[in-house]
Amino acid sequence: MSITPMDEPAGGTPAPGGPAQATPTGSEPLLRLRRVSKHFGAVQALFEVDLDLQAGVVTALCGDNGAGKSVLTKTIAGIYQPDHGEMFWEGRPVHIRSPKAAAALGIETVYQDLALADNLDIVQNMFLGRERLRRFTLNEDSMERAAAETLAGLHVTTVRSIRQPVATLSGGQRQAVAVAKAVMWNSKLVMLDEPTAALGVAQTRMVLDLVKRLKDHGLAVMMISHNLNDTFEVADRIAILHLGRMVAQDRASAFDRQSAVDYMTTGGSSREIAASGSTTGRN
Ligand SMILES: Nc1ncnc2c1ncn2[C@@H]1O[C@H](COP(=O)(O)OP(=O)(O)OP(=O)(O)O)[C@@H](O)[C@H]1O
Ligand SMILES: [Mg+2]
Repeated sequence: MSITPMDEPAGGTPAPGGPAQATPTGSEPLLRLRRVSKHFGAVQALFEVDLDLQAGVVTALCGDNGAGKSVLTKTIAGIYQPDHGEMFWEGRPVHIRSPKAAAALGIETVYQDLALADNLDIVQNMFLGRERLRRFTLNEDSMERAAAETLAGLHVTTVRSIRQPVATLSGGQRQAVAVAKAVMWNSKLVMLDEPTAALGVAQTRMVLDLVKRLKDHGLAVMMISHNLNDTFEVADRIAILHLGRMVAQDRASAFDRQSAVDYMTTGGSSREIAASGSTTGRN
């Protein structure tokens, strides 16, 4: 989507702000992984993982510590290359060889440490490394306007000034800035690694609302979460990794808390979740 399209040449006129709908691709997943494997020495971090991520759908990626969630995210983000397996983007085979290649497709990742520069303000952070120029100087007006429009498009209203240093923001506001930064660049898939892990109740609420808004704008969202409350609140689909294998993947309504915990801790569940036409196991 482009809440504020940003792929114009540096120095160009800012595109109109406000949410723009991405075009969902029907039943074709935006990203499809098939039998993706990745090992580090003797550790099989991912084993023949299948995953479908769809536009306008929040998929929660769940699993215990060491299950492979971050490795899977980094593989999609172009940081790691799979040893085996295939990936399809909008139906076409792709090799995502670098984070830059991922960004060119429209894949953005918000990592847990957020990678924001504390001493820079919100605008500077959102444009870090992709600054807009006018002649040979920074086009501050254009960047400021676009940053403000993007935040407004996401209903992020609690920030006092977009010129305040990121160090002065609350955890939830920092998360919001990191998400806004990710969605500014015509992104189609946003991956969030534990976006609410360090947040209090009110800030968690703000971030979960933000996740829902991304989906309403037509983005595919993949959210890593250890928190089942968050998962069941925002996820349309749940995908569960156990020791590098995708052991369950289905609509969120096909799970209950106990079955989700069972899959996360043991890789299986005796509870019946197949009534919905479950695609648990490999899919
Ligand atoms: N760069 C690496 N080198 C070697 N092993 C790695 C590397 N990255 C991950 N692993 C291993 O791969 C497995 C999966 O790790 P990963 O970080 O994906 O887990 P996770 O599901 O994100 O866990 P957590 O919830 O603790 O963040 C672990 O056994 C981990 O030790
Ligand atoms: Mg991790």
